[in-house]
Amino acid sequence: MTILNVIKTRRNIKDFKPDPIDRQQLMAWFEAASYAPNHRLTEPWEIRFVGADTRAKLNHKTDFGGAPVVFAVLSKPGATPFERDENVIATACFVQNFLLAAHAAGAGTRWTSLGATPRNREILGVPDGYDVIGVFGVGYPADVPAVKERTPIAEKVRDLP
Ligand SMILES: Cc1cc2nc3c(=O)[nH]c(=O)nc-3n(C[C@H](O)[C@H](O)[C@H](O)COP(=O)(O)O)c2cc1C
Repeated sequence: MTILNVIKTRRNIKDFKPDPIDRQQLMAWFEAASYAPNHRLTEPWEIRFVGADTRAKLNHKTDFGGAPVVFAVLSKPGATPFERDENVIATACFVQNFLLAAHAAGAGTRWTSLGATPRNREILGVPDGYDVIGVFGVGYPADVPAVKERTPIAEKVRDLP
């Protein structure tokens, strides 16, 4: 697949096959993801693999679509609000790299905002000041949803004088 195909065919996967995903494979995708742009090389991302007990406590209504692996991505606090924003932006770039690396290898990912609530932050053991970018399921898709078409990009573009 070309990079454009990889980007355009990734989907937020709702249902996974139970087939396991190799931890080394996951680490290779995270390692590639870490080449994301990040200002002053803060590398602000942290990953928490969510074990079975923690996963049950999170109580997702679909259990992450049966994904064999669930992980959370945290973004480190900054010394200032500006640095914190930059960290969140860099960590989102890291996440997108991971999603694309997984997809290019035939796996699928599901992004949830589940880590945002105080209760779930506590369950995930998120330190004060850290942002939870998301809690993700990853595995091999049982079903790939249809594309959700996007607004023509020309409508998002303005030329400044
Ligand atoms: C910050 C963020 C939070 C998201 N949270 C959720 C979520 O809680 N539940 C969900 O089903 N999808 C969530 N998504 C995934 C989007 O719903 C999904 O990307 C969107 O519907 C477009 O579908 P696609 O990714 O398959 O193109 C989230 C995406 C982002 C970027």
